Amino acid sequence: NKDTIVLGIETSCDETAAAVIKNGTEILSNVVASQIESHKRFGGVVPEIASRHHVEQITIVIEEALKEASVGFSDIDAIAVTEGPGLVGALLVGVNAAKALAFAHGIPLVGVHHIAGHIYANRLIADMKFPLISLVVSGGHTELVYMKEHGSFEVIGETRDDAAGEAYDKVARTLNLPYPGGPHIDRLAQEGQPTLKLPRAWLEEGSYDFSFSGLKSAVINTLHNAEQRGETIEPQDLAASFQESVIDVLVTKTLKAVEEYKVNQVLLAGGVAANKGLRSALESAFAEIKDVELIIPPLALCTDNAAMIAAAGTVLFEKGNRGNYAMNAHPGLDI
Ligand code: KG4
Ligand code: ZN
Repeated sequence: NKDTIVLGIETSCDETAAAVIKNGTEILSNVVASQIESHKRFGGVVPEIASRHHVEQITIVIEEALKEASVGFSDIDAIAVTEGPGLVGALLVGVNAAKALAFAHGIPLVGVHHIAGHIYANRLIADMKFPLISLVVSGGHTELVYMKEHGSFEVIGETRDDAAGEAYDKVARTLNLPYPGGPHIDRLAQEGQPTLKLPRAWLEEGSYDFSFSGLKSAVINTLHNAEQRGETIEPQDLAASFQESVIDVLVTKTLKAVEEYKVNQVLLAGGVAANKGLRSALESAFAEIKDVELIIPPLALCTDNAAMIAAAGTVLFEKGNRGNYAMNAHPGLDI
């Protein structure tokens, strides 16, 4: 009964990351090189710049992850890499690095869906108890995913337009806040009052889908109209009102899904899981519900990292999933 040691590699967006995980649950190392500073002045991620940074950083980051974990390639049972979704040029760097290392050292290769990774960040802090639902909220995704067992993902609801994090970033931009705007809106929201009336997109009865573009437009219109009338709106109150609207919909739909699907656990996942307002709203909602456990990963495991990719990769590896040397990047990959 030997331990399973997996090297994870993640380059789907603007973090170059590598990590070593033992038995799918224990972090031996988790190295993240963020490029945020390089993209900030453009107000968003510039794909070509992201790819170039990944090329520069990937080998160094992998070397550091192995060193920190005190392992060599002979100890690695599998290399797990994000194959999609994400920026194609960014993904290709990780996929190519993983294939080259797998080939050179004769190590099995496992392709991982980025969202599966976000969900499995939870397994690094808690046992997963099926059936469960994961609320995945990131810069590129807003999804409710039902899991009846390891490695099985059923999307029961998703955004029809903007992702939650994308809406945060766009609203932040209108308020002249730096990229990524989510944490700035979150901080402002704590200081303000939700005094402005903003819409909530509930969509059709029974739908678990989301929509945030209408809310984003409402925020922009509210600011614009106030400006024309010569009135000022406190950015704190606007942030608080926006955040309340996002959280109201996310929490209400999650609670509905929990009831309908009779789950044992709810896992929060993705970069927006770092949001203080969302965390406390979920915590108070689930404090009232017996028999359903709420798991929220620490901040460093919510945003993009490779530990989560290695955690998901371990499960897929144990299920017999294998990538081959024809593995490619899939920018629009379905989970
Ligand atoms: O998961 P992630 O690191 O990258 C993607 O896979 O998209 O998520 C990044 C997103 C960004 O949109 C960022 O603004 C948002 O997560 N975010 C937040 C907070 N921290 C990060 N949104 C709201 N509140 C936060 N505290
Ligand atoms: Zn992500």
